[in-house]
Parts: sequence; C-alpha cells; structure tokens
Amino acid sequence: MTSPISRRSFLSRCALLAAAAPLSQLGGMPGSGSPGAALSGRGVRAHRRQGRDFLWGTAGSAYQMEGGNVASDVWVLEHMKPSIFVEPSGDADDVYHRFEGDLALAASLGFNAHRLSIEWSRIEPEPGQISLAELAYYRRVLEACHRHGLAPVVTFNHYTVPRWFAAAGGFETEAGIEPFVRYCETVTQHLGELITVAATFNEPNINALLSWSPAIQKMLPMIAAFRKAATQAGGSAQWSSPMLADFRVQQPILIQAHAKAYDAITRLSQGRFPVGVTLSLTDDRPADGSGGVERKRAQVLTPWLQAPGDFVGVQVYTSAVVGANAELPPTAGVELTQMGYPYAPEALEGVIRMVAQQTRRPIYVTENGIATEDDTRRIAFIRGAVDGMLKCIADGIDVRGYMHWSLLDNWEWTSGYRPKFGLVEVDRTTFARTPKPSANYLGQIARKGKIA
Ligand code: BGC
Repeated sequence: MTSPISRRSFLSRCALLAAAAPLSQLGGMPGSGSPGAALSGRGVRAHRRQGRDFLWGTAGSAYQMEGGNVASDVWVLEHMKPSIFVEPSGDADDVYHRFEGDLALAASLGFNAHRLSIEWSRIEPEPGQISLAELAYYRRVLEACHRHGLAPVVTFNHYTVPRWFAAAGGFETEAGIEPFVRYCETVTQHLGELITVAATFNEPNINALLSWSPAIQKMLPMIAAFRKAATQAGGSAQWSSPMLADFRVQQPILIQAHAKAYDAITRLSQGRFPVGVTLSLTDDRPADGSGGVERKRAQVLTPWLQAPGDFVGVQVYTSAVVGANAELPPTAGVELTQMGYPYAPEALEGVIRMVAQQTRRPIYVTENGIATEDDTRRIAFIRGAVDGMLKCIADGIDVRGYMHWSLLDNWEWTSGYRPKFGLVEVDRTTFARTPKPSANYLGQIARKGKIA
C-alpha cells in the first residue's frame, strides 16, 4: 500500500472505490490598486488590451503549502498505517508563517495575482465553532496580497474538509450542503471585501475525471481497503473524505452545494467579484468512433456548466486519448512528467477552445503546470502552454487570467514531496526559497503580457 502513486491516480482510485473580487471599489481598503478587481464585461476587455490587468499569477492550496492542518480529514488519511500517502504533509512549506515573504517574492518576480485557498478546518475546527483568530489570519494573508499588488483568487474548498465534516458523511450526504454554505457565508462576511475572484470548489469533477483512468480501475481493491480503513481511523462508519468518495453519489451533492454557496457568496458580497468553480480537464482526443470523449465530457464538464457560475476555471496538465469507457495508456516512448502523464503543453489551448465552444462564460486558467526536476522542460512547457493560450485570446476567446501551479515546490498529495511543480525550490530543512530560472521566465511574460 505504500508504493508511490500520483495524486491523480490516487484520487481516481479513491473516486472509483465505492463504485467497485473588486478592491478598486473599496477606496480605503489596503491594496485597492490591485488589478483585475471587478472584472466584468467591458472593463475586463479593456484591462486585457492594456495587458497588465490580465491576471498573471501562481496557484497554491492551503493544505499543500501551509503545514500543520491537523483538523483536516486528510491529516487522518496520511497518518494511517499503512497509508497510500508516501509521506505526511507535516510542516509543508510553512507558508502559514512565511506567507509575507512568499507574496513579496511572487510580486518581485512580476506577477499581479495569487491563487490560494482557505482551510475550512482552521476556520471551523468543530461544528459551529468559528475561529476568529484564523479568520484574522486569512485577513492578514489577503491584505498582504493587496499590499504586494497581487489580486487574490480565493478557493473556498481545495479538496480537504474538517474531520467532523468527513465523519458526518461529507458530501456523500445532502446533510453536508448546509454546513458548507454556512462556512462560505462566514468567509464572505469576514473576508469578502478582500477577494478579487472566488471559486467555491477546486476540481469538484476530479473523481469523475479520474474514473476514466485505466490505472485506477486496476486499483479498486486497494482503494476499497483504504476506504474501509479510513472509516476506522476516522472513528465513524459514515466517514467520507471527498477524495475517497464515489463521484456518482458525491458530484450531484457538490453541484447543489456549489449552487447554494454561489447564491450566498454573491448575495453577501453584493456581486462585487465573480464566483465560479475550477475544473480538472484533459485535452481529449477520440481513440475511435465510440463516443468516449463525448461521454467523458458529459460527466466531467457539462453538469458544471449547467450550474451557476460567472466564469469557468480550467486546470490543465495533460492530454488523453479516450476509448469507449477509459483513456488509453500513454503511447510507448512518449515523454512523461514526474506524475506519469504525457508532456503536453499544447493541451491548454485544446481545453480552452473546447470549453469556449461549450459555454460563453469567461475563462480563467486557474492551474497549469508540470512536475519535473528539469527546469528547462518547465520553461519549454510554459512557453508552449502560454503561447497556445495567447492564440485563443487573439481569436477572441475571453480568457482573463493564467495561474501557474505552483509558486513553490510542495506536498503533492499521495506522492508527497517528490514531484517538483514549483517555480521556486524549497529547502525541506531550512524552508529557504530559491527561484528557478522558470520563475524569472514566467515572471517576464507576466510583466510584458506576452512571450519575449
Ligand atoms: C490540484 C492540485 C495539485 C495539482 C498537481 C491540481 O489538479 O488542484 O492540488 O497539486 O493538480 O497535481
């Protein structure tokens, strides 16, 4: 059970298991000069023409970077013995204490936006018990973003949930909707004035997407065993970690939770910033005439486009050839990243064009990146991906931002610290940050709004 496995394959294993913001309007607020504020209609197009107000940033998540999120469901999973997580997250990148320096670094590299998530288990460690101290912490983080000229793109939920919420059945029961919406209300009331763009969920379609992976299909028995062990470790027969859930049960509930959270956030913020979801998408090509690509899209994209949203966040890492019921394994000899996916910078353009055909909603690239020890491959990847995105914009597609995953090397779920997604290296003993050449490369693109 301890063999190294990628997050994507872990999630897909788990997914299949059971199936055997506008600061410019806020005159006195810190950072009211942040770009991308209201981002509606004509304003955004003008922004884009001016180049600088397109959101160029990096993306991260609380659990993977902050460290010490002990009240979260994933903390339980990663400390199970045996666990499918190769190593625990521990202190992660200690972003919890080092955010000020990290944001200053991101700004100095040339970025004008930063995507981060709020850890629900910090805000509400026990049901209904709201931590004002942690809300104040995230206020300091968001204020620091603005002080450094970084527009905060805020995800309310990036995979992890409080232990008590998982123990009560998570999002595999409709009873999970109300606590999530209440949490979103709390965050909006306390922090909404500092948000530039908001996503309710990060990749709520991931379990559906990964159900198409043949590697996952082989791992069902192991996943079943891990889920069973998780109910014991979590101390509840109802235990449901979103990562372990059956997407057929969970996704319809996530859609309802998103729709209600969308209404609540929009109402409480008086619509000052756009609210949407971010979706994991691969650039799919048909293997044959069996209609697999269309069936996959009907599971991973269409239901989310039918839900409310002011934009679509696209998160793209690779491409896939899709047969009737599963993706085909990568062709022999093709270059693979550290995650085992085909190296495919062009996938971003393919996904943006596909999404733009399906919806008129604006698009943000909320994640795109590569796990590699070879930074020259990261630079080539960025060049190819950004070039494709700029072609889409030149063709009139309404793309409003590009956020690279990630600023820092970080804890990649079940794969631990091995995959290197960062533009900046993190020393695992001293936490010292060292920018890689790719950090300066993408920073230059961000400054100029084009590839040099
Ligand atoms: C997720 C991140 C993850 C990244 C790289 C994205 O799908 O949102 O949490 O680290 O992919 O695998």
